[in-house]
Amino acid sequence: MSGFSISEYHNTTEIYEKLNHLMTLPVHAITSEGMSGYLQYFEKKCKKSKEMITEAKKFIPGGVQHNLAFNYPFPIVIDRADGAYLWDADGNQYIDFLQSGGAIILGNNYQPVREKVIQLLNESGPVTGLFSEFELKLAKEINKHVPSIEMFRMLGSGTESAMAAIRVARLATGKKKVIKMGGAYHGWSDQMMYGLHIPGTGSYEAHGIPGGCRKHTHEVFPNDIDALRKKMSRNRVRGGTAAVIVEPVGPESGTRPVDKDHNKQIRELCDQYDTLLIFDEVVTFGRIGLAGAQGYFNITPDLTTFGKIVAGGFPAAGGLGGRRDLMEHVAAGIEGGKKRAYVGGTLAANPLSSAAGYYTIQEIGRTNACEKAGQAADRLIKALEEIIDELNLPFVAYNQGAIGHLETSGTMFVKINLLKIKSILKEIKVRQHFMEQMGAAYMAEGIVTLAGSRMYTSLADDDVIIDDAISRFERVLRNVERPST
Ligand SMILES: Cc1ncc(COP(=O)(O)O)c(C=O)c1O
Repeated sequence: MSGFSISEYHNTTEIYEKLNHLMTLPVHAITSEGMSGYLQYFEKKCKKSKEMITEAKKFIPGGVQHNLAFNYPFPIVIDRADGAYLWDADGNQYIDFLQSGGAIILGNNYQPVREKVIQLLNESGPVTGLFSEFELKLAKEINKHVPSIEMFRMLGSGTESAMAAIRVARLATGKKKVIKMGGAYHGWSDQMMYGLHIPGTGSYEAHGIPGGCRKHTHEVFPNDIDALRKKMSRNRVRGGTAAVIVEPVGPESGTRPVDKDHNKQIRELCDQYDTLLIFDEVVTFGRIGLAGAQGYFNITPDLTTFGKIVAGGFPAAGGLGGRRDLMEHVAAGIEGGKKRAYVGGTLAANPLSSAAGYYTIQEIGRTNACEKAGQAADRLIKALEEIIDELNLPFVAYNQGAIGHLETSGTMFVKINLLKIKSILKEIKVRQHFMEQMGAAYMAEGIVTLAGSRMYTSLADDDVIIDDAISRFERVLRNVERPST
C-alpha cells in the first residue's frame, strides 16, 4: 500500500510525441449525424435545465457562475450528487468525473464526513470568527502527512493561497520576480493572470488588469529546465526571482505533463538562486496522496498552496503552509510593528471548512482513497487507450494517478506565434468548439468531464462504474470521423 494514486509514472516523451502528432492533423470531429443525435438529447431530455438557464441569463452573467461549467449547447442544472453520480433537474443520471473541479476524492456527498458536518452545524453553528478546535486539528493533521508544512494558515480559496505565497516569498527574499509555468492556472489574482491555458499567451487573458500588476510575473515553457535556468539567471540583475511556482504534475493538473525528475531540477535551481519553491498542491493534495505530490516526488518545497480537498468539497477551501520561519510572516492578530505579509478572510478557517477538511483527511487515510481512485483512473485510461488504438484515432489518453486526461482537441497545445496570431486564434476557436462538442457528447452519453478532456476519479468509482463509463466513452469515440490515412 503506497498511499499514492500514481501506480506507475507516465512516459512523458511518449505522451508529447502523441500530442505533437495530434497537432499535425486536422480535428477529428464527431460526425454530423452523431452530433445532431447528441444535441437532440439536450433538447428532449434537458428541458428543465434549458428553462432555468434561460431565466438565469437574465440575472446571472452568462447564466452560470463557474468557469468549468459547460455552456454548450446550454449548461445543465444539477439537483443531486451522491457517490460517483450526479442527477440533473430533469432526473438524468451522470457518472461524475468533474468531482466539483477536483475538490472531492471520497465521492459526492460522502456520508461519514457529511454526518460530522451536520453534527457540527447542529451543536456549534458554522462560523463564529473566533478560534475553533478544528483549525488546530486540521493543521496538525496536514503536518502529520506533509512534513514540509511546519505551519499552516487556512484561507478561503486556492487563488488567495497563491497570492499569500507570493507575498511571503517577496517579503522573505527581498526579491521581486515570480516565475510560473506557461499554461498553468494558480487562481485569478492580477499577478497570476499570465500565460493562462496555453504557454506563450502572456497577458492575452488579462483583460482589466493594468500591465504593472504582472510586471514581475514571468512564464517559462513547462518541462523546459534550461528555459527556467536562463530566466533565473537573467533575473539576477532585474530584482531577483522571489519564487518559482509550479503544479508538481505539470500545468493544468498535468495537462502538460513533466518528467519525473523535473521538480528535483527546479528545486536545485531554486537553491542555487536563493529562490523559494512554491508547490501549488491545490489539486494534488489528497488526490495524488495525503503526502501531496511532494511526497510522491520526494521534494521539499518551501511553501505549499492548498485548496479543494483541504476542505473536503465544502466551501472556503484554501491554505498556505510551509517552513516555520516563512509562515511566521502570515501570523494573524493585531500585534503591530512586525514585518507582515498581510492575509485575511472573514470566513477563512471557519469551523465548517476546517472540520470538513479534518474528517476528509482522516477518511482518505482510513479508506486508502487516493490509491483506489488511482486504480479507477488506471482502469479507465487503459481501456480508453485500447479503444483509441482500435479505432485508429490520434487522441491521447494518460493519467497521473487519480487525474485522467483524454486529449482529443489539442486546444491547449496550439503553438503560439505572434506573427501569425490571426490564424492561430482561428485555430484555437475551431479546436475549442470541438472540445465543447466532445464535452456535450460525453454528457449526452451520461458522463460529466472537466472541459471535455479531464477526468477526476474518486473512491466511489468501483470497477462496475468504470466499466460503464468506458462503454459510454466508447460510444462517443465510435461517433468520431476516422482519419482517411
Ligand atoms: C492548480 C490550481 N491552483 C489554484 C487554483 C485556484 O483555486 P480556487 O478556485 O480555489 O481559487 C486552481 C483552481 O482550479 C487550481 O487548479
